[in-house]
Amino acid sequence: MIKVAPSILSADFGNLQRDVEEICNAGCDLVHVDVMDGHFVPNLTIGPVVVSAVAKCATKPLDIHLMVENNSFFVDLFAPLKPKYISFHIEEEKHPHRLIQKIRALGIKPAIVLNPHTPPESVEFLLKDLDMVLLMSVNPGFGGQSFIDSVIDKAIRLNKMRNRIKPECLIEIDGGVSDKNIHLLKDAGVDVVVAGSYIFKHNNRQKAIESLQI
Ligand code: DX5
Ligand code: ZN
Repeated sequence: MIKVAPSILSADFGNLQRDVEEICNAGCDLVHVDVMDGHFVPNLTIGPVVVSAVAKCATKPLDIHLMVENNSFFVDLFAPLKPKYISFHIEEEKHPHRLIQKIRALGIKPAIVLNPHTPPESVEFLLKDLDMVLLMSVNPGFGGQSFIDSVIDKAIRLNKMRNRIKPECLIEIDGGVSDKNIHLLKDAGVDVVVAGSYIFKHNNRQKAIESLQI
């Protein structure tokens, strides 16, 4: 079954505890946290002060998605919160293999994110050291954008590659996910989906989460 990671970027930040508790009680699998620094992407979100408050009320593991320059600095900032995953963009990292080792040594599962233009082959020689590869299906920076269809072919290619190299490495998709494309994603071999606006704008968030757990 596909695992669902609601992105709290679309939550009500004035009622963050209420929204985090709601999605956890509604049966989500992970809590997706988008960290943006205003440099790698044209938006600025939350740091460890707010994320530690999220960690306190979340009953599901955190999935931290870094969209930042200077990844290693941000790994050090968020590692004390004991997230399950930390993912970083390969486009912004000169030494991805070194950073993967650092994240794992901190007891966190390492994941790499690929922007829409980045080919799946860019992680081929890193795959055996990764727990997850996150494919962006929108340009990173904002919630509520439309799904970029070419990610489906990319997921199919990545699925073949990981089945050959490391079948237990998960494939996650982030951006524009809803009940409209979830079946295509399932068929492509996707294991985890991030969904922000679809879940938080739905009048029944539990039903929205369940509609993606196919
Ligand atoms: C975009 C973020 C996403 C975003 C997804 O940079 O990485 O996690 O919140 O939001 P939706 O599901 O609304 O596209
Ligand atoms: Zn994200």
